[in-house]
Amino acid sequence: MNKKLGLIILMAVLSIANVNAQSTADMVSTNTALYIVAGFVFIVALLVLGVSVVVLRLLRVMVRQELEKKATEKGVEFVEEESWWSKFMQKANDAVPVEEEETVLLDHNYDGIRELDNHLPPWWKWMFYLSIVFAVVYMLGYHVIGNMPLQLEEYKAEVYAANEAAKARLANAPVENVDANSVVAITDAASLQKGKQIYLNNCSQCHKDLGEGGIGPNLTDDYWLHGGDISSVFTTIQKGVPEKGMISWEPLLSPTQMQNVASYILTLRGTNPPNAKEPQGELFVPEVIEDALDSVDTEEVKEAVDSLQMASNN
Ligand code: HEC
Repeated sequence: MNKKLGLIILMAVLSIANVNAQSTADMVSTNTALYIVAGFVFIVALLVLGVSVVVLRLLRVMVRQELEKKATEKGVEFVEEESWWSKFMQKANDAVPVEEEETVLLDHNYDGIRELDNHLPPWWKWMFYLSIVFAVVYMLGYHVIGNMPLQLEEYKAEVYAANEAAKARLANAPVENVDANSVVAITDAASLQKGKQIYLNNCSQCHKDLGEGGIGPNLTDDYWLHGGDISSVFTTIQKGVPEKGMISWEPLLSPTQMQNVASYILTLRGTNPPNAKEPQGELFVPEVIEDALDSVDTEEVKEAVDSLQMASNN
């Protein structure tokens, strides 16, 4: 039984060591798994321990009964051997038994209160000696040799490690570094879904759920106050328009989050939601369409676009 327990503990320790060997990036997810495994191992170990104690107790009782029977058959008195536990307890306490207390009774007597002259309990003295050893090791380790870090050093080391980890993370994730110049409209469904969630959480109270506009302008039409290309939309979100009531989102959203929500907003163009707010700002013609118009090269279309633009300026 004890061997089994030892094996389980060994396995748990090995698995912890194994997890520690992995890179910090995986740590967060493996930590959760580790807690589950450790909890499981702990419960199994407790169960095994409990069952072993019960079985050992039962065995002891059975053996004692057997020995007692044999002794009475032989007609000799049965003397039970003391268990190691009771021997240990006797050593640890070393108190004079209650029946022999007279031998350690001091001869003074204050109003019926009398004093026993027992030894100090050995377990208590052991702890005292241990604390002296501990104090010496502590003093040497933390203050004389200094190879063990004090709280402040530990804190500084952790902050340093966290900073280094943050640097490494940023270096490996160029998307986190998008800015108004490098931003592109993302089209993958997962990022757009994230953008939608960010929109619903932060923006819809002013721009409304479908982007039809409320306190803030309609985001589904072709007219923009601050430009309708991805870079301009990103900049508007990043810097905000504080004087008109839209805050700068830079402190609250990461560059990637701003990219996601800006890309999501661009997908709303032309969705014609009900109760849409009237267009504000200038007509925005995406570059692809402008290029296409150039290649068509018909004065008529260009005039139509111009007149639309004029109309929006009025
Ligand atoms: C407190 C209300 C409010 C919230 C919240 C808000 N906005 Fe705005 N937003 C406005 C207002 C008002 C304007 C118009 C600014 C102006 O008149 O120049 C605006 C303008 C914009 C524009 C420019 C529109 C254009 O025509 O050029 C974009 C893009 C935009 N918001 C996106 C967002 C996004 C994305 C969020 C959420 C992260 C958000 N807004 C949250 C009020 C808000």
